[in-house]
Amino acid sequence: LLSNTLLVIGAYLLGSISSAIIVCRLMGLPDPRTQGSGNPGATNVLRIGGPKARKAAAITLFGDSLKGFLPMFATHLLGAIGLVDSGAWLLAAVALAAFFGHLYPVFFGFKGGKGVATALGVQFGLWLPIGAGVAAIWLFVAKVLKVSSASALVSMAAAPLLVWLLWPLHSESGTAVLVGMQTLMTLVLFWRHRSNIRNLISGTEGRIGADEPASE
Ligand code: G3P
Repeated sequence: LLSNTLLVIGAYLLGSISSAIIVCRLMGLPDPRTQGSGNPGATNVLRIGGPKARKAAAITLFGDSLKGFLPMFATHLLGAIGLVDSGAWLLAAVALAAFFGHLYPVFFGFKGGKGVATALGVQFGLWLPIGAGVAAIWLFVAKVLKVSSASALVSMAAAPLLVWLLWPLHSESGTAVLVGMQTLMTLVLFWRHRSNIRNLISGTEGRIGADEPASE
């Protein structure tokens, strides 16, 4: 039980490390919380504009995804050698810990991001085909609409369905728990995107990499 608890706490602490804020600070870019939508995430770092910001956005996306991927990978690994529980409950707890770490980071006054990259990392870490499925939907919608939040909303809405369809191909047990975990994550993601949803409805949501700053 101790090692399970430590793993969940570790996932939360890792999730609390905001790639956007740290990368921008290190690269001499403005704090993303003062720019565009104010969100410390890859989309908003890109919005700063210029080649340096493009690089910073790519690193942010990778870093925030890794925060979801690594704890899930560690859970599979440590579960396989018997150091922690190997069941779906621990996977779900670790997933939510990393995700909520990103949303409510202990290191940044509990004001974090919207969770898309970290959720994607969690899904890749849960089982590769699930992450690949969500990422494919994200990329497809991004290519068609060129709106980051819309891609996030569509792909994350599909995510519980993908877990439900794909997880049983990987494991005989745990589907209900993991679909529940993903459904909760998706609902919270929608809540965190409420200003984006408002902008999408009113037709004012910015396009990926567009020069004009987002309204909120
Ligand atoms: O995941 C973040 C993205 O979906 C929206 O970010 O900065 O446009 O609010 P932003």
